[in-house]
Amino acid sequence: MEMTSSLLSSSSSPVVRDRFLRACHCEPVDTTPVWLMRQAGRYMSEYRALRAKYGILEIIKTPELACEVTMQPINAFDLDAAIIFADILPPLEGMGLNLEFQKGEGPVIHNPLRTRADVEALRTPDPKESLSFTLEAIKLSRERLAAAGIPLIGFSGAPFTLASYAIEGGSSRSYVLTKGLMMGDAPTWHLLMEKLSAVVGNYLLAQAEAGAQVLQFFDSWVGALSPADYREYILPHSRHAIEIAKQGNVPIIHFGTNTSGMLDLIQEAGGDIIGVDWHIDLDTAWKQLKPGAAVQGNLDPVTLLAPWPEIQKRTQEILDRAAGRPGHIFNLGHGILPNTPVDNVRRLVDFVHEYSAAKQNIPPTA
Ligand code: CP3
Repeated sequence: MEMTSSLLSSSSSPVVRDRFLRACHCEPVDTTPVWLMRQAGRYMSEYRALRAKYGILEIIKTPELACEVTMQPINAFDLDAAIIFADILPPLEGMGLNLEFQKGEGPVIHNPLRTRADVEALRTPDPKESLSFTLEAIKLSRERLAAAGIPLIGFSGAPFTLASYAIEGGSSRSYVLTKGLMMGDAPTWHLLMEKLSAVVGNYLLAQAEAGAQVLQFFDSWVGALSPADYREYILPHSRHAIEIAKQGNVPIIHFGTNTSGMLDLIQEAGGDIIGVDWHIDLDTAWKQLKPGAAVQGNLDPVTLLAPWPEIQKRTQEILDRAAGRPGHIFNLGHGILPNTPVDNVRRLVDFVHEYSAAKQNIPPTA
C-alpha cells in the first residue's frame, strides 16, 4: 500500500496522529504508538457510570452510546488509536444464536450448536443488515475522532474463537465440545467454519467501508489448539476471512494468545501485524516471523496492577527488545483487567512515548 493512501482517511479528514498507521506499515515513527486492548471498559468510572444505566448489548446497539464509550479512553489518555466499542459475539445473533450477557457470568448462548442440523440452520446475513449499529457507530466515531486526527480500529472475532462460544454456549477452559466437533465430525466442522469465515470476512470488509482504518482479527483462544490442528482445521478458514477483509485495503492485525508455538502459521493465515502475548519475548517472536510483519504487544495485563517502578521496568524491557525497529505497536498481550488503576494506564501511555522517542532514528514532532 502506498504511504499516501495509508495516511489519508477513507472519507474526509487526514490522520494527524499517524504513528499507529505508520507502524502498521513498518514505516519509521517519531515514537512508539500505543493503544490497549479493551481500553474502553470497567476500569474507567466513565464507563461504569454508563453501564449503570444501560446493558452492554444496549450500548453496542445504540451508535451514539457506542461512540461515546469509544471516545472515553481517547479523552482520558494520550492514546494513538481508538477501537470501536463493540464485542466479538453480536455477529452470532444474526446467524441465529441467542446471546445474553449475564451479570457476573459473562456471555451465554442459550441455543448452542450441538448437531449437524444446528450448523446447517445457521444463516449468513449481510452485515449491513444484521450489524448496521456497529457500522453506524464507526461512521459517528470517525467524525468525532477527526478533530484529534486519531485513527479508528474495527474488529471481529475470528472463526475459531466464535465457534468456541457458539458450541460451548459461553466461555470455556478446555474446549471439550468444540474440539469434540472438530475431531469427531470434520465435515460439519468445516461447514461451520465456512459459514463463520464468510460472516467474519464480510463484517470486517463492511467496517473498513464504513471508515475503520485498521482491522483487528481476534482469535483469542486459538492457542488452545496444536499447530497441526490449527493448520488443518483453522488456517484455511481464517485465511478466507482475511482474504475477504483485505478488499477493504486497510492493515489487518492478527491477534491470538498462547500462540508462541504457531506464530508462523498465524502469519501464514494472513495479517500485516501479528499480535503477541507475554508468553514469548518480543524479539524472539519477531524472529519467528517472515520479514515485513509489524508486531503488536506484549505486556502482561497484570503488570498494570503492580507498583509503578515495576510497570516502568517491564515496559522498558519490551521497548528495549523492540530496539527502535520500525513496526512495533505497544499494547498489552491481552485485554486490560477491570481492576486496573486508571493512573497506571495514564503513566504507561506517557512512558511508552517518552522512553521510545529517544530510541527512534528521527526526532519527535510536536
Ligand atoms: O477493546 C475495546 O475497548 C473494544 C471493546 C471490546 C469488548 N470486547 C467490550 C467488552 C472488544 C475488542 C471485545 C472483544 C472480545 N469480547 C473478545 C476478544 C478479546 C479478548 O479479550 O480475548 C472476547 C473473547 C469477547 C467476549 C466477551 N465479552 C467476554 C468473554 C465478556 C465477559 C468477560 C468480561 O470481561 O466481562 C465480554 C464482555 C465485554 N465486552 C465487556 C467489555 C468492555 C465487559 C462487560 C461489561 O461491561 O459488563
